[in-house]
Amino acid sequence: MNIQKIMVIGAGQMGSGIAQVCAMAGFQVILHDMKQDIAEKGLSFIQKQLQRQVEKGKLSEQDKVKTLQRLTPSASIEDAKEVDFIIEAVIEKMEVKTSLFKQLDTLAPEQVILATNTSSLPITEIAAATNRPDRVIGMHFMNPVPVMKLVEIIRGLATSDEVYQQIEDLTKKLNKTPVEVKDFPGFVSNRILMPMINEAIFTVYEGVAEPEAVDEVMKLGMNHPMGPLTLADFIGLDTCLYIMETLHEGFGDDKYRPCPLLRKYVKAGWLGKKSGRGFYQYS
Ligand code: CAA
Ligand code: NAD
Repeated sequence: MNIQKIMVIGAGQMGSGIAQVCAMAGFQVILHDMKQDIAEKGLSFIQKQLQRQVEKGKLSEQDKVKTLQRLTPSASIEDAKEVDFIIEAVIEKMEVKTSLFKQLDTLAPEQVILATNTSSLPITEIAAATNRPDRVIGMHFMNPVPVMKLVEIIRGLATSDEVYQQIEDLTKKLNKTPVEVKDFPGFVSNRILMPMINEAIFTVYEGVAEPEAVDEVMKLGMNHPMGPLTLADFIGLDTCLYIMETLHEGFGDDKYRPCPLLRKYVKAGWLGKKSGRGFYQYS
């Protein structure tokens, strides 16, 4: 398969980061979201990131312009007919992803691989919504995508060896390091990271310490670049909750029970940095 044109579905923080690294690696990219203004907001976020790199002398003005020329914002799902590879980065809800994959399966040419950037959901179940489960795969980027080296690659039960190899090669072309892991809830990254974040939320919920103190302990005591509550706000508290729910349901073990404070914040619309309020205030 010769990939030249990539469609990224979901122009939120992950989708725009993925679109940016694909365009920087020389691919033509369609950045799709449900509405044109959201797709354009994703593109202007990329513009700002690239401009910052130019100002720091890490990217030439010419390369910035070339990268931006490769990016097209779009609200038309029909664009799936015209691309060589599709990666989905929409909300972390199984019903949203399966309904999208059903639609993509009818639109995209049959040889096209459909990848998902899901943080925790079973690849096998997403693949089963299509008639091409051999060509569905998990390609889990880390946030912020332009900075983080890792991509977890996850095969569904039916993913072919050929498709796995193509995605590993693509990951390397994007200057990332692939690590293959098995299709279990949360894979490796979020099976380990998210219970730590959930436990940090429990320490606040139980009055053990204030958010600032929890973060300071983990930054200064464990050399984490961000404290767990700052990181939770950065990831998005809705995403954190959905991941904990997937772990809880998938393993059936109470140790994965989402903290009630996390649920409360999400119900209040406190989703972290992206909504302006989470454990901290951003505006
Ligand atoms: N988008 C793009 N680039 C960004 C960025 C963003 N949102 N935030 C920071 N950067 C870039 C900066 O431009 C800078 O680039 P250069 O080195 O080329 O100049 C670099 O990152 C470092 O930034 P700063 O000096 O401003 O800040 P920092 O040194 O504090 O680092 C950080 C910022 C890289 C985000 C660092 O705090 C960090 O590593 N945090 C932890 C991130 C992490 O754990 N990510 C994984 C989250 S879990 C996940 O992704 C999986 C999941 O499914 C939930
Ligand atoms: P986000 O809320 O920033 O963005 C999601 C975007 O998807 C929004 O712009 C929304 O309008 C769009 N969207 C929703 N339904 C859609 C549909 N049917 N068609 C087109 N667009 C649709 O979320 P995010 O943080 O970018 O997360 C996206 C995915 O990436 C999730 O599956 C998440 O678990 C995963 N992920 C997140 C992180 C993180 O740190 N936030 C890290 C790795 C993976």
